[in-house]
Amino acid sequence: MKIGDRDFRSIWAEGDAVAIIDQTRLPHALEIVHLTNLDEAARAIAGMWVRGAPLIGATAAYGMALALAADASDDALARAYDTLHATRPTAINLRWALDAVRGRIGKLTPGDRAAAAWAFAGEICDDDVATNRRIGEAGLALIEAIARRKRPGEPVNVLTHCNAGWLATVDWGTATAPIYLAHDSGIPVHVYVDETRPRNQGAGLTAWELGNHGVPHTLVVDNVGGHLMQHGMVDICIVGTDRTTARGDVCNKIGTYLKALAARDNGVPFYAALPSSTIDWTVRDGIAEIPIEERGGEEVSHVAGMSDRGVIERVRIAPETTPVANYAFDVTPARLVTGLITERGVCEASEVGLAGLFPEHARLRA
Ligand code: MRU
Repeated sequence: MKIGDRDFRSIWAEGDAVAIIDQTRLPHALEIVHLTNLDEAARAIAGMWVRGAPLIGATAAYGMALALAADASDDALARAYDTLHATRPTAINLRWALDAVRGRIGKLTPGDRAAAAWAFAGEICDDDVATNRRIGEAGLALIEAIARRKRPGEPVNVLTHCNAGWLATVDWGTATAPIYLAHDSGIPVHVYVDETRPRNQGAGLTAWELGNHGVPHTLVVDNVGGHLMQHGMVDICIVGTDRTTARGDVCNKIGTYLKALAARDNGVPFYAALPSSTIDWTVRDGIAEIPIEERGGEEVSHVAGMSDRGVIERVRIAPETTPVANYAFDVTPARLVTGLITERGVCEASEVGLAGLFPEHARLRA
């Protein structure tokens, strides 16, 4: 997507290095960082310079390639897999990408591995872009249907949580892909952007993305969604997901569950948009089986932003002695999810729904 008038992806190869946008600096500064080895790739994921399930997977694939460029032995391959796998526990695209790279290059002789891994990481990135475009087309049909029921010129109001935009993927985003396509095709669309405490991915990233693309949007604090829905101000919720189970439970950024509850209570359709690499076919019960990342308490006790003096600063908002809990994700049970928007179309959030779109996985599980 565009930043100013320049086309960007969130990750790309540049010589022997991997270029990323340091997302901890947005929206205040656009800083490109070059990753040159395994440790830097792992640090970029753990430190959330890159984040969002599909982008975590793409970065991990490049991390494997960087590791193999330095040492392509079996031991180094195993070490790279473990190091990258340990960075963040919830987004399943991480394991998916690591397994895919290991499966593709593990059988090659060490001398052939680095180049093959590098090329494959590029393929994973290109596939992600194409996949998200297809998610966008599937989701666009939902927005078009709502637009047809509106008066001419009246916007379709979408609520989204966290950042499941192009910054969370290689391009297009998942939740945002239908929004960008709707906007580009002339459908009036307006997005309520949850700020998404504690790290404020909505305020810092989604709002920045939508603004750069010219999509009308309004930033709201996390607790506003229920009020908006009670007053008929939201036509559809579309969120991303870090892991969706074989029966359609949706794990996503903390607070997603509360939005789904409010949506159900107010008859607002609630969709999750995802590439199939985000489905964990080995897990059914998301609440019991998905590991929820717990992050440092300072993300809750402090807030970072640009001061009125133009300096990026971090300030404490809670007493120094107050204990803090920081659960990064929650699980929305499938019963609260109206549907899943995937690269193969929209399905019911259920075992049957997913099996209809992905019969090859359903057969394996049977
Ligand atoms: O902690 P983050 O910023 O990596 O969390 C990101 C999300 O929760 C996204 O909604 C999810 O990864 C889907 S991204 C298309």
